[in-house]
Amino acid sequence: MSYEQRARAQALRLRESGHATLLAIESSCDETAAAIVRDGRTVVSSVIASQIPLHALYGGVVPEIASRKHVESIDPVVDECLKKAGMRLEDVDAVAVTYGPGLVGALLIGVSAAKALAYAADKPLVAVNHIEGHVSANYIAHPELTPPFVCLVASGGHSHIVRVEDYGVYTLLGQTMDDAAGEAFDKAARVLGLPYPGGPLLDKLSREGNPHALALPHVQTPGRYDYSFSGLKTALINAVHKLRQNGQDVPAADIAASFQHAAVELLSDKAVLAARESGCKVMALAGGVASNSGLRNAMNDKCQRAGLRLMMPPPILCTDNAAMIGAAGFYRLMRGETAGLDLNACPSLRLV
Ligand code: KG4
Ligand code: ZN
Repeated sequence: MSYEQRARAQALRLRESGHATLLAIESSCDETAAAIVRDGRTVVSSVIASQIPLHALYGGVVPEIASRKHVESIDPVVDECLKKAGMRLEDVDAVAVTYGPGLVGALLIGVSAAKALAYAADKPLVAVNHIEGHVSANYIAHPELTPPFVCLVASGGHSHIVRVEDYGVYTLLGQTMDDAAGEAFDKAARVLGLPYPGGPLLDKLSREGNPHALALPHVQTPGRYDYSFSGLKTALINAVHKLRQNGQDVPAADIAASFQHAAVELLSDKAVLAARESGCKVMALAGGVASNSGLRNAMNDKCQRAGLRLMMPPPILCTDNAAMIGAAGFYRLMRGETAGLDLNACPSLRLV
């Protein structure tokens, strides 16, 4: 029997038992991460090695540097993760890995490592979509959560509103027409002189400012649930340049607060509208921007008023991590889905 045949047979047995402990690996961008996750819901251990200080020097992620750092970090991160869990590789039931979307060179490191580990331990390999991972962080944070629900996924590269019909089954309700939400936060932060990634720093700074100091445009999009952030970003850049040209002070906290307020209103209004009109009673948040304090507060208020139950992972599960990949991988495995050793990185993989 070949490795693939043995893996498929093992996956079927795991599916029948309804239980599996996964070693999950994530390396799609600038975090090298590994986690051990039991039954898609319980994190036994999680290790995240961030490369942010390395890329901050250049104002953004440098793909070649990211790949090299992943190569250095992947083995120690996996070792530490197993050690923290008090487990050996043989003790896990399957290996899950992010295979897209993301930076091709960065994804390849995780995919190659996962293939080698799965083959060495003779365990099934599970291929996971990074965006599905973000959505699945909610299964860890809210063990009672089951589909259907509507999820706003707002990360550095993606802004989607999806209806989660079942585990692994999604309907796209809306998406960004241009910049992703996180990208817009990072660009706005950059104009204010904040280092990469500026999103969390802009969030912090905005707490000291007046959200109504700067009038930013109300963005229109053709689709009811679609987003556009580039107009907002351009308006902010123009306002800052104008102040500088006139020799006036740039009130950074006020500008940060005004941008955050406008972006949060846009994100939260459309997400809540989509959830209400989809007939779902549960709304979830996912992705790095879901850790934004303004967005969390606005969603709390708006969901309460709309009679929606709000689920949101803690910030550490919103930004990139491998625990979410273990949760998504579990449900893929329970559907009998395994990957072969020919698994490749898919940089532009879509969720739907
Ligand atoms: O999901 P994520 O960790 O990586 C991707 O898959 O892209 O998202 C990273 C993005 C970055 O753009 C970062 O600035 C943004 O999420 N972000 C935030 C906050 N924390 C992370 N944006 C606004 N406020 C935050 N608190
Ligand atoms: Zn991500």
